[in-house]
Amino acid sequence: MKIFYSQASPFVRKCLVTAHELGLSERIEFVPAAAHPVNRDRSIVAQNPLGKVPTLIADDGTVLYDSRVICEYLDALGGGKLIPRAAPARWRVLVEQSLADGIMDAAVLARYEKAVRPEALRWSDWLAGQLDKVSCGLAALERHAAGFSDRVDLGTIAFGCALGYLDFRFASLGWRDAHPDTAAWFARFGTRASMVATRPPAA
Ligand code: BEZ
Repeated sequence: MKIFYSQASPFVRKCLVTAHELGLSERIEFVPAAAHPVNRDRSIVAQNPLGKVPTLIADDGTVLYDSRVICEYLDALGGGKLIPRAAPARWRVLVEQSLADGIMDAAVLARYEKAVRPEALRWSDWLAGQLDKVSCGLAALERHAAGFSDRVDLGTIAFGCALGYLDFRFASLGWRDAHPDTAAWFARFGTRASMVATRPPAA
């Protein structure tokens, strides 16, 4: 299978960590892509009209997006170890993924606002709204992080990728200061081989 990817995208990283944890990494061919909200990469659009990474082409040619669908596909291929089948664990993990994805979404939009939007068009209240989503998301994560123990599933993988993206693009936020349980958990989770192998490039 092939994945259209950018090393900077936390959503791509979530898929790659998932593949690594399932022992599927070797089966993935990487197709570098330049996903951008304005200058759309037509090589991705040809497969996925949204022009976003990650986009995965399965061996039978099936095109899969977005990251949630790709992770579900990989989990099914790898034996279903990362998404519990039964309630309540299933719903907990999927909601955790949604929370982490929401933090990533807001952080990526904030990044675009600062790095892509022309300065004259920037709207500080809009940026503050995105960063408030990140902040509320981190507060919710902090209430649960002490209970994560050594869990490795799609929920914890997604949180790891969200925190990794904040370190990559928003180091100045200093999120660890107000979130000690999350920081302690991430200090351990971030050393997993899957997380080390998928680290974003130096900012
Ligand atoms: C980034 O450069 O931060 C980025 C690139 C692709 C997707 C999301 C974020």
